[in-house]
Amino acid sequence: MAAHALAIAAPASATILKMPTEHQPVLAPELTQLLAPRLGQTAVDCTFGGGGHARRIAAELGPTGTLVCIDRDPAAEIRFERFAAETDCQTRFLGLDFAAGLRTLYGEGLRPEMVYMDLGMSSMQVDAWERGFSYSYDAPLDMRMDTRQQLSAADLLNEWPESRIAQALRRFGEERYAGGIAREIVRRRPLQTTSDLVAAVKAGIPTSARFAGGHPAKRTFQAIRIAVNGELDSLDDALPTAWRMLPVGGRLAGISFHSLEDRRVKRFLAERAKGCICPPELPICVCGREPEAELLTRRAVAPGTEEVAANPRAKSAHMRVAVKIAEAV
Ligand SMILES: C[S@@+](CC[C@H](N)C(=O)[O-])C[C@H]1O[C@@H](n2cnc3c(N)ncnc32)[C@H](O)[C@@H]1O
Repeated sequence: MAAHALAIAAPASATILKMPTEHQPVLAPELTQLLAPRLGQTAVDCTFGGGGHARRIAAELGPTGTLVCIDRDPAAEIRFERFAAETDCQTRFLGLDFAAGLRTLYGEGLRPEMVYMDLGMSSMQVDAWERGFSYSYDAPLDMRMDTRQQLSAADLLNEWPESRIAQALRRFGEERYAGGIAREIVRRRPLQTTSDLVAAVKAGIPTSARFAGGHPAKRTFQAIRIAVNGELDSLDDALPTAWRMLPVGGRLAGISFHSLEDRRVKRFLAERAKGCICPPELPICVCGREPEAELLTRRAVAPGTEEVAANPRAKSAHMRVAVKIAEAV
């Protein structure tokens, strides 16, 4: 079922209170400082969104530099056109999943000095009520970042077996009541709107849990969105390609908004920063492994209180950056 085929009128509250907003880039000065872009260099922005980070980085790369931007949301390409017309940096856009986009660029022989990804959704996506990302608006169950993609949240919720839905809620939402929620989802089929999903969540959890710890549907919406968009698989696929394409001295940065993503970025970079992996009981190193990375952020960088006050959506952000110090042998 194509979620966008459902005709649901925009709720008055959505149009009056929340028109799609500008996306405020998170940790932008910190990202720019840690990537240290210079005139004439090449960078890849894997998640163009509203171009907030791109604008800052492009200004440092200058007219002799190149910024390649990727985003799988066709709406981002329209914003990119405006950005490209305004910047004097050389630019290019790839309307692809960043895992595929990076593979394409690597195949073309691109060796950028920096690659960065600002994961998750943009404010424009959350606030476009009709895209169904938010439990705050009644909307079709869509949640596709790439609107050309076939699978929507409605397809997943109405067609996947109960056990697979429960597993997605557990894996991608760390939802303790996954079993009960999945049962309610299946019992109430067909689900058509975000309100139907919120109602299934409320019915699938104990009454006491409905009023504790934020909106009861928050984890379910996160899980379904991650499943619809294959977000963790894309990240797992993209990180090694991003790393491979960097020359020695090149930098990789990841900004995450939940622990499932941050854990992946952290492990990936820590793995590369590790030297010898011989068992401690061996008197000398036999693995000969040298570190490929130096971590520029020993602990994740988080936004300060001022940034969170000005942009509450920045609250859960964690940024990690590393520099390549050697090629893998
Ligand atoms: C948090 S926003 C980025 C905001 C941007 N840095 C800015 O300053 O405006 C994330 C963007 O990445 C895109 N995105 C998320 N996952 C993606 C993926 N796997 N491949 C391509 N684009 C992705 C989303 O469509 C969204 O536009």
